[in-house]
Amino acid sequence: MDPLSLARAVKDRAQEPFRHLAATARTVADPRLPLLVALNRTLFTPLYRASFLAAAAGSGVLRCMATRPCDLESIAEHLGTGPEERRRLRAWLDIGVRLGELDLREGCYRLRSRTAKALAREGNDAVAAALEELLRFHVPALRDAPRMLQGGGRFGLGDQDGLVVARSSLVVRGLVEAAVRRALPRTAPVRLLEVGCGSGAHVRYAARLNPRLTALAIDLQAEVAARAAKNMAQWGLADRVEIRRGDLRTLDLQPQFDVVTMHNNIYYFPQDERAEVLARARSLLAPGGTLLLTSSCRGSGTLGIEVLNLWFEYARFGGPLPREDELLDQLRAAGFDDVRASRVLPGQAFRAFTGSNAATGPARALPARSTVTAEGAAS
Ligand SMILES: C[S@@+](CC[C@H](N)C(=O)[O-])C[C@H]1O[C@@H](n2cnc3c(N)ncnc32)[C@H](O)[C@@H]1O
Repeated sequence: MDPLSLARAVKDRAQEPFRHLAATARTVADPRLPLLVALNRTLFTPLYRASFLAAAAGSGVLRCMATRPCDLESIAEHLGTGPEERRRLRAWLDIGVRLGELDLREGCYRLRSRTAKALAREGNDAVAAALEELLRFHVPALRDAPRMLQGGGRFGLGDQDGLVVARSSLVVRGLVEAAVRRALPRTAPVRLLEVGCGSGAHVRYAARLNPRLTALAIDLQAEVAARAAKNMAQWGLADRVEIRRGDLRTLDLQPQFDVVTMHNNIYYFPQDERAEVLARARSLLAPGGTLLLTSSCRGSGTLGIEVLNLWFEYARFGGPLPREDELLDQLRAAGFDDVRASRVLPGQAFRAFTGSNAATGPARALPARSTVTAEGAAS
């Protein structure tokens, strides 16, 4: 090497660390970096955690690990996935480890975070389902609203997973049960019609309160009605509770019920049809019978309730959550007497509405639009 090249090489070597330092300083000084770091902590990671946990709870993977640590094979078996999917399953589980939700020791995955352990508990199933509902239905409402406004798209009932909603609705189970306790006769024989029964848990509660109660429980969605029928059989209530797939609006039955209940579903009906729907419910009550309707109302709700309201604002069926005064007017318009709204718990947006069908004279029946067919019966 000639002396000039040697001198240049020595100079370059000497400058190299400074060039690295300058490049690092330029990268660190990128004005976007602090925002990215902050978003990673406050938005991205919680969203990844929520998504992982919702999927792990919904697929039963958390429950599987709640009893014992599970190797890849047993998790694959639980999910019913083939050997060709092992690599992808591992990739997903490893993100769970990276997020701190799971632990991997000696080839076995186990629950690590407190949240994962809590969501794995059977008693917290409604909360796990609520997390799934939030990600699968609430997030699309927030995300797609501008696009829907521009393109005119709307959510349909098929955009909800009825089985997830049937489980997540039970987050307000305690409030519904308090309302049922207040409204249900305890000793006299009661013939109950429950509209939109979901899992059937509220009918089960009513049947426990009154051992002489028998019920017909209907749900619009076939898979929901089928699951409710299965639940009734498991709970030993199949001889007291009949489950049918059916639509309140087209149900052709005699006015034979002492109590009609509608829990958490008045917003499945458009606002301007609610008085008619309630009149249909009244037409199925025997003289002197009672309607008990429970619902979260607009106004003082949690953020989750406001987003639920947003979803129904963007649904092509149904409508916004009710306002207390508006629903009271609709109950009166439907012909109910002694119409009342009560707050089940102070500070909550949840209300119990009651109305009675006049004790004297025949129930004012409405003509049915069509008949629920025998094929529609889930059991
Ligand atoms: C949010 S879920 C509530 C389920 C249950 N009542 C509870 O509180 O856990 C509403 C249910 O009402 C049902 N539903 C909606 N419209 C209906 C109708 N027209 N007739 C019967 N069921 C209906 C839906 O299929 C859904 O299962």
